[in-house]
Amino acid sequence: MKIVVIQGPNLNMLGVREQNIYGPMKLEQIHAQMKEVATQNGVEIEFFQSNLEGEIVDKIQECYGEAHGMIINAAAYTHTSIAIRDAIAAVNIPTIEVHISNIHRREEFRKDNMIAPVCTSSVVGFGPFGYHLAMMGMLQIMNEMAAAQETQKKAQEEQA
Ligand code: DQA
Repeated sequence: MKIVVIQGPNLNMLGVREQNIYGPMKLEQIHAQMKEVATQNGVEIEFFQSNLEGEIVDKIQECYGEAHGMIINAAAYTHTSIAIRDAIAAVNIPTIEVHISNIHRREEFRKDNMIAPVCTSSVVGFGPFGYHLAMMGMLQIMNEMAAAQETQKKAQEEQA
């Protein structure tokens, strides 16, 4: 099983940008922790960060037929990008969106969310720990997918 983690604009500046909101942790540290959890659970993981909307759309499309789950923080594009929303809907892969801050209790414009309706679930406001929670959620989804596949395989074998 493979998880792809997609990080949107300015998340490469974590640890530097608005530490009062996003904290001191760098993106590399968050990814190192996620990698550890993935390895412990025998799951492949890939990380991608871009400041460009089209590159994020391309990456989501690449996940089709490749990844079993996506964890995405579309950052500011969350509030504006119909293209990213449509890409997530198109590939139809279980997707968990993460926001480090609680977007519901910030500026009004952050309450608009184009991405959430096409995601399996959202994790908001837990700081960088939200990525760990998303990993736990994704592993659970993958276990359920594997169990469903196994049941289907058994049913087919019984019919044959
Ligand atoms: C963010 C919230 C967005 O509103 C903001 O534009 C970001 C980060 C978060 O993780 O809290 O860049 O997605």
